[in-house]
Amino acid sequence: MMLSPLSPRCRRAERPSSSIVARMMRTPIKQAKAAVYRLLTLLLVTSLLVPAAAKGESPAPLEFRLTDTCPASFELQDGGCVLRNRYKAYRSLRDAGVGGLKTGLPLLREGFTPQQIDLGRYLFFDPVLSADGSVSCASCHDPAKGFADGRAQAVGISGQTLPRSAPSLWNIGFFSTLLWDGSKSSLEEQMQGPLYSPVEMGNNPAQLLEVLNGNPTYRTLFEQALGSSPIALDQIYTAITAFESSLISLNSRYDLYAHGYHAALNEEEIAGLNVFRSFVARCAECHTPPLFSNQQLAVLGVADAPGELIDLGAEAITGDASQRGAFRVPSLRNITRTAPYMHRGQKATLEHAARFYTGGRGHEVPEGESLMIHWHIWEPQLTDREIQLLATFMGALTDEAFMPEIPTAVPSGLPVTQARKFASGNDVGFGAQ
Ligand code: HEC
Ligand code: HEC
Repeated sequence: MMLSPLSPRCRRAERPSSSIVARMMRTPIKQAKAAVYRLLTLLLVTSLLVPAAAKGESPAPLEFRLTDTCPASFELQDGGCVLRNRYKAYRSLRDAGVGGLKTGLPLLREGFTPQQIDLGRYLFFDPVLSADGSVSCASCHDPAKGFADGRAQAVGISGQTLPRSAPSLWNIGFFSTLLWDGSKSSLEEQMQGPLYSPVEMGNNPAQLLEVLNGNPTYRTLFEQALGSSPIALDQIYTAITAFESSLISLNSRYDLYAHGYHAALNEEEIAGLNVFRSFVARCAECHTPPLFSNQQLAVLGVADAPGELIDLGAEAITGDASQRGAFRVPSLRNITRTAPYMHRGQKATLEHAARFYTGGRGHEVPEGESLMIHWHIWEPQLTDREIQLLATFMGALTDEAFMPEIPTAVPSGLPVTQARKFASGNDVGFGAQ
């Protein structure tokens, strides 16, 4: 059983009461009342804290213990967790043809200790990482929504809308080209984006360190997992990276099929796989198994809104005009969980996403724009039936068996956040057409 620790509970209890006091102070008549109230609050807090301190107990509650067991599918080797997976026996992509069933995986960020992964899990779900304690990583990367958020465009601190959709984080430890525009190459570097962006979590390094170091539970946990104190930024980044890299989804029915259990896919799904990897549809050229992404940038020419190109993709980063509208090929793992699709949620369903590829080269490119559309985007003239088969096949890439345990409480004592309820009609892009 995990319970909220004592001290953060007290802090939470204090916050509303001090705002009540502030409100009461506005009227002089109520000043006396306010003083009594404040005294009572103080007495209550002291009565809760003093006995523990008097007995000389450790301030860190024992409820938050870091596990010494590796996550499912990992095994302990030389103190670190290493993935056990059949794909590791296969040769790398470089040696095998595109779309081959028995192709290897890119390198995984692995070797983190069980304690580092577990600490990262608490941090990932703890809104204390944001400026006002309202947004956690899981607010936009919700395990119940494939570690995405179900929105066309993500929503950050104070309800601000982001320009892009939140991608899934399953298998993200295999990626060395991160973000829709491919502008980051490590998870440690990437997470500083959301942590310190005024529209995402709104925090700054100084406040983040102050809050975590001011929390005795976190100080103890960091010392257990990373060995030194006070808590440093690098340690925060390492722990969250460790957790992210543990999100493995490689046991879908497709994978069973790829490893040789042919009965794992039904006839429709096998037909869909064959369209997917055919040189007509060419999906596997970019969505290369087993990750279903070759991690390269490609210009598809998906409009942001009808007739509009708002997001310049990689060009905005590199200034290279040939990368205007280029985005990193996303993985298709657990893709049924993360609608709507594309960088701005333009496509409502998998059928809509698949249909884009047969609409004709550059058919969504706004007038006056000249994009250097990728050569594998062409005119495959897929039938309705083939599009439906593609969607059916992509459904066989679903596997959430190694879902991490979602903490019921986090060391800050703040409520564990997951994707918030939809507030507006912003949830599906325009691509329902
Ligand atoms: C306000 C919503 C929001 C929050 C909070 C948030 N993210 Fe994200 N995340 C996004 C969006 C949107 C993107 C895509 C941004 C882009 O490509 O420009 C993204 C991208 C990512 C990526 C890259 C995925 C890929 O496929 O390349 C990783 C990794 C990631 N986030 C991890 C985190 C972590 C760790 C945290 C917490 C420290 C976090 N995110 C907090 C919305 C959010
Ligand atoms: C030239 C490389 C390329 C080819 C070929 C390709 N894709 Fe894509 N795919 C991409 C890129 C890049 C994106 C992201 C584009 C964007 O957001 O604007 C994407 C996005 C997607 C998405 C949405 C993923 C998400 O997380 O939102 C789906 C689904 C998809 N592709 C399916 C397919 C299918 C099915 C085929 C074959 C008919 C195919 N792709 C062929 C590069 C490719």
